[in-house]
Amino acid sequence: MILDNRLFFPATQRNRDFIGDVLSKIIKKDGSVLEIGSGSGEHGVVFQKRFPEIIWQTSDPDLLHRKSIVSWIEYEDLKKKMPQPIKLDVKNIPWKIPLKLINSLLGIVSINMIHVADWSCTIALFKGAGKLLKNGQFLILYGPFKINHEHTSQSNHIFDNSLKMQNDFWGIRNLENVTDEAKKNGFLQEEIIRMPANNFSIIYRKNCCK
Ligand SMILES: C[S@@+](CC[C@H](N)C(=O)[O-])C[C@H]1O[C@@H](n2cnc3c(N)ncnc32)[C@H](O)[C@@H]1O
Repeated sequence: MILDNRLFFPATQRNRDFIGDVLSKIIKKDGSVLEIGSGSGEHGVVFQKRFPEIIWQTSDPDLLHRKSIVSWIEYEDLKKKMPQPIKLDVKNIPWKIPLKLINSLLGIVSINMIHVADWSCTIALFKGAGKLLKNGQFLILYGPFKINHEHTSQSNHIFDNSLKMQNDFWGIRNLENVTDEAKKNGFLQEEIIRMPANNFSIIYRKNCCK
């Protein structure tokens, strides 16, 4: 009997097509994409189906999330195409990544992760990505950001307060601080894309040997 451990994260239904449109401009050739903080796995299976030429590698430190990802892969009949999720906590540097993935990697995507984790996870994300990625490879973040320390909408302000009520160390990050961490680890901020519902996609590109 196959257990159905699928979780349903409603935001994924609303943002997946818009994020997919961004990915379609960035993913230009065959290879693998590592997703960090994949959550339920709903994005993973949708992007695997939308971009059949690539291999979508999900990951999450949370066992329940990894079980959900496994179930989504089975439910969508992608077992032959899509690898099983890997256990990856950005703070455990160097990240333990299968060699096959390293050799075919095009870049990293992390959706709605850095504001639902403490700031040290943002620092670790860029440190780990900086060690893993080679020149020209991308790191894409999606989520809400403050710009010049200002919220971009009242709803983001309210959301930020609600995050901080759940955990003192969570909260919407200031884009300039995030990009400082990117630069320290050899990334250029290539593009800032405004997305629906006061979110952003931030495209970083590794441009140095570090
Ligand atoms: C708000 S959920 C977003 C999940 C999914 N990306 C989405 O958009 O639905 C944040 C995810 O980040 C993961 N996460 C939290 N801390 C992390 C860490 N230190 N390293 C990697 N992932 C982490 C959580 O387990 C969770 O799955």
